[in-house]
Amino acid sequence: MCEKMIEIKDVSFRYERELVLEHINLSIQKGAFLGLVGPNGSGKSTLLKLMLGLLKPQAGEIRLFGESLSKFKDWNRIGFVSQKANSFNSGFPATVFEVVASGLTGKLGLFRFLNDQHKQMIMKTIDAVGMGKFVHRNIGDLSGGQQQRVFIARAIVSKPDILILDEPTVGVDEKNVRSFYDMLVQLNLEQGITLILVTHDIGTMTNKVTHVACLNKTLHFHGDVSDFEKFNADDLSAIYQHDVHLLSHDHSNEQEGVIV
Ligand SMILES: Nc1ncnc2c1ncn2[C@@H]1O[C@H](COP(=O)(O)OP(=O)(O)O)[C@@H](O)[C@H]1O
Ligand SMILES: [Mg+2]
Repeated sequence: MCEKMIEIKDVSFRYERELVLEHINLSIQKGAFLGLVGPNGSGKSTLLKLMLGLLKPQAGEIRLFGESLSKFKDWNRIGFVSQKANSFNSGFPATVFEVVASGLTGKLGLFRFLNDQHKQMIMKTIDAVGMGKFVHRNIGDLSGGQQQRVFIARAIVSKPDILILDEPTVGVDEKNVRSFYDMLVQLNLEQGITLILVTHDIGTMTNKVTHVACLNKTLHFHGDVSDFEKFNADDLSAIYQHDVHLLSHDHSNEQEGVIV
């Protein structure tokens, strides 16, 4: 039950001159939904790039599914949606179905070879992110939040064990953020996908995640969300200074499940 999906041991990283991460120790268990928070420039995206093997730490070690990152090859076990995924303009010539299908092409080569089973899997995944009504819509004709759901579907259609999301709600209309998070909780609980979510939105996030890591060059907190709620508010303000609103959001007037 306590299977470690990702283990980061005493990792430090610098770009040229700037030391960005210092002595980071963090492990992520199977089935966790981890919220990774920290002010702008605190090293969150850098830490994700290290986990994905896109950057190499100068010190420390990273293990994926128990294997040292230097030997790890099973990249289809990890899905990633980057910060700037939702930048399609109106008129981009691909439908929701085609974009999600492209998540299988790594395995299949050309997607004109999709069989009925693949097509069913694609449709099921589109439904799971709440986009069933938009299968034939052009991706460029969707809102930022809807596009983001489609990119999540593309990342999970090949059934990865872990899904990593870098600030996925940046293009999402504020009133739809909660239903977006609810969709992530559903993927976590119903499909058993381990989730790592980088977000600025501490208020909404703490109602949804199981674990929190709070980063600002060093890891200031890592643990259960219930312990994070007890984490000293003064400590958090010191980490953030005036970067972020820490207040829990009141969503009582929000419409449920509506995407615009
Ligand atoms: N490619 C890069 N080259 C040099 N410095 C970088 C590069 N990418 C990020 N940085 C610097 O590293 C620090 C951490 O950046 P980043 O990991 O993107 O933070 P976050 O995602 O928390 O906003 C910042 O000071 C940023 O300017
Ligand atoms: Mg970032």
